[in-house]
Amino acid sequence: MEIIIGSDHAGFELKEACRSFLQSQTHLTVRDAGVFSQDSADYPEIAHQVAGAVSRGEYGKGILICGTGLGMSIVANRYKGVRAALCHNLYTARLSRLHNDANILVMGGRVLGQGIAIEMVELFLDTPFEGGRHLRRLELID
Ligand code: RB5
Repeated sequence: MEIIIGSDHAGFELKEACRSFLQSQTHLTVRDAGVFSQDSADYPEIAHQVAGAVSRGEYGKGILICGTGLGMSIVANRYKGVRAALCHNLYTARLSRLHNDANILVMGGRVLGQGIAIEMVELFLDTPFEGGRHLRRLELID
């Protein structure tokens, strides 16, 4: 699977930890959309890059991290075909896949520790969509 990850400055440290985990997984191809330092950055710029690429089908899944995850999720969900899920724990990460078929995982770098965030990334990548009544509900969104 091809995956794209990005953050602003507030998510930089957590993004680096998640990117390094992703790159250790040999079955994944990972693109880092930045940022590449803790210098102040505008989260919409990175959210547009990542959500745009997922919306165009260039990547199967994306990960976005800002301070709270709020700004990134607001921007990403403006893109057609993007279902960006702001998740705070293992339960929401798992359900974002089972029920919402989320294709972008959004997290808060000022909210989550690295250990749980990496477990959330693993769950997000490994959990299939349940389909059935949830597919009907997704179809109702648009
Ligand atoms: C940056 O200070 C912060 O506002 C941003 O990372 C994000 O949390 C916005 O939603």
